[in-house]
Amino acid sequence: MAASDAAAVHETVRLDRAGAVAVITLDNPPVNALSKDVRAGIAAHLETALADDRVLAVVIAGAGRNLCGGADIREFNTPARDAWPMSRDLMNLIEASAKPVVAAVRGPTLGGGLELAMGCHFRVADAGASLGMPEVLRGIIPGAGGTQRLPRLIGLVPALDMITGGQPISAAQAHELGLVDDVAPADPTGASVLRGALAFADRLAASGMGPRRISEMRVPGDADENAKAAADYLVALEKSARGVKAPLLGHEAVCLALTEPFMAGWQREAEISRTAMQSVESKALIHAFFAEREAAKLPDVPADTPVRAIERAVVIGAGTMGGGIAMSLANGGVPVTVIEASQDNLDRGMAKIAANYDATRKRGRLSDADMAARLARITPTTDMAAVADGDIVIEAVFEEMDVKQAVFREIDARAKPGAILATNTSTLDVDAIAAATQRPASVLGTHFFSPANVMTLLEVVRAEKTAPDVLASVMALGKKIGKVPVVAGVCDGFIGNRMLAPYFRQADFLVEEGALPQDVDRVIEAFGFRMGPFAVSDLAGLDISWAIEKRRAETRPADERFSPLLDSICRLGRYGQKTGAGWYRYEGRSRHPDPVVEEIIVARSREMALNRRDISDEEILQRCLYPLINEGAKILEEGMAIRASDIDTVWLHGYGFPRHRGGPMFWADTVGLRQVCDTLDRYHAEWGDKWQPAALLRELADAGQGFADWDRARK
Ligand code: NAI
Repeated sequence: MAASDAAAVHETVRLDRAGAVAVITLDNPPVNALSKDVRAGIAAHLETALADDRVLAVVIAGAGRNLCGGADIREFNTPARDAWPMSRDLMNLIEASAKPVVAAVRGPTLGGGLELAMGCHFRVADAGASLGMPEVLRGIIPGAGGTQRLPRLIGLVPALDMITGGQPISAAQAHELGLVDDVAPADPTGASVLRGALAFADRLAASGMGPRRISEMRVPGDADENAKAAADYLVALEKSARGVKAPLLGHEAVCLALTEPFMAGWQREAEISRTAMQSVESKALIHAFFAEREAAKLPDVPADTPVRAIERAVVIGAGTMGGGIAMSLANGGVPVTVIEASQDNLDRGMAKIAANYDATRKRGRLSDADMAARLARITPTTDMAAVADGDIVIEAVFEEMDVKQAVFREIDARAKPGAILATNTSTLDVDAIAAATQRPASVLGTHFFSPANVMTLLEVVRAEKTAPDVLASVMALGKKIGKVPVVAGVCDGFIGNRMLAPYFRQADFLVEEGALPQDVDRVIEAFGFRMGPFAVSDLAGLDISWAIEKRRAETRPADERFSPLLDSICRLGRYGQKTGAGWYRYEGRSRHPDPVVEEIIVARSREMALNRRDISDEEILQRCLYPLINEGAKILEEGMAIRASDIDTVWLHGYGFPRHRGGPMFWADTVGLRQVCDTLDRYHAEWGDKWQPAALLRELADAGQGFADWDRARK
């Protein structure tokens, strides 16, 4: 840059001059968030630039890796005291500038960052930039003029897509939509887009062309057609939003741009934005975001614990899980050897892996080269000697203790010193598996979820003797391969499946007492789960739960019953979606209630001498979710989860708990633990011990506290 005269030194924003162009540079690592300092800095430097007669145009750019990542998340949910200029005023201030202002857009330019760029009169983007309005993912809407400027600039429907969907678009797409005026070659240093923006500004200065203010534009297109498109969009959105409010609020705000002058829409946007910010939905989504980060912290394992280098993994078993785990590792860049007992099983497993990749490639989500690279990272063999190559060995063989212990004895004999030995067991005692080896400190559980190459949850099961650095290493590996790792203790079902059991049990009881599968599923889906328990069972395959039930029937305590309903349905060969019938009848993938199932259920109620009754939606919800929360409280009190928010993370990533509810423990807090506890007490009196509230739940309820308080007290 030519002669630069720093007019004012500001910590997070700089002002330089290159000829007739003033450059305001945001420098607020890591993402140039619009903190109070940054906002004030931009306003001050702009004022200086406007007062400087030598300056004919202004460029706003970002140091580091992007222009601006948006609002400062640390300022979320904090009062707007002393916050001048608010982002929304700042964008208007920039737009009002008499000298043209050009934004140099690069890196992730999101939310408030994109609103800042739209406050400018023109935008030049680095080809590698991404532009988006992710507010909706935090339960809020753009609140700095974005809902009013975006539709004016790119049209109603593209603006609705961005604001109600929250997904970013590329610089090329942005250029096509008219969101950016020019694209500079990709350059991570930022030099290319800065050059482009300066050249653009110089041209503006030379031509004497003034500002182009988006607020003065009209939404492109015919008014009647836009009104119809808005109405159609709303109908579709109401269906897909499944109880989530923010996308609907985003729609409402964007549509104001069709009928209202800019300032009226801008003011109303502030009100809608405030409502959204105060909503439980937004608090839940922000909780979900922080809970995930928090899960990585282990109170007794310092963050700087040296982790063991994992350069190659070995997976034993190429079945459903082994194949998916191998894919996850390969996707995350970790070379992996897959060992199977027989060549046939190995070939079948590898063919499945190849077919999975190919399906993703055909959907256009994986390039030929990437697919080849991932496959090349997976080495199949039937030779157990290959165990010696692994820095981590993950066992995913049959779920039988004898088999697992035999495999672990063999791993122990062959694995290199320092290797981490992991089991993917879903129900067995990890301590007993570790005891089969001479190095229990190196053993732990890695409980992946099915399909393992898709599901993000990873329960990391800490056994009694697991060494802290082993735990830290696996947490780091999980993160590296794109999973969300959560630590669990050794107990039946760990965190997630342990809580799932009472949920499914209640679903069964409810239909015996009077509800039908479609009633239960409707209530659970209205709550926000993608599928209710019966639909989930049909998808997973009833034959699988039937086989587990039959196997468990032998060892089950007397008060736990073999599900007679499941038994009757399976005896008809109804195994769920794959056989076209299960709890429902299927036409393609669409499910329909089936009178045959109703007959079986009614007969079962009669057999049990139960008078079928109408069961309210409220009761269905409470009966399904409160026992699950109660189990979560027991898990906490037994120390099987480190914090309540970890349980939320497990449910959000492994079980499709609706994110806008924050997770079961967060949701319980919003209901109030007093009410959860009292309801459990009522059911306890009516139905017996299974309903007894956990001591921790009662203690918190009596103290007028929630699980969040419990977490806070342990920080
Ligand atoms: P699977 O039956 O599909 O695969 C097991 C594979 O291990 C088979 O291909 C078998 O040939 C192979 N195998 C057995 N003994 C072996 C040995 N000694 N050496 C090498 N290979 C051997 O079973 P799946 O579903 O993959 O389950 C594996 C483990 O993952 C089990 O512990 C299961 O409980 C657990 N799990 C399963 C989940 C699921 O949804 N399927 C979810 C989470 C955990």
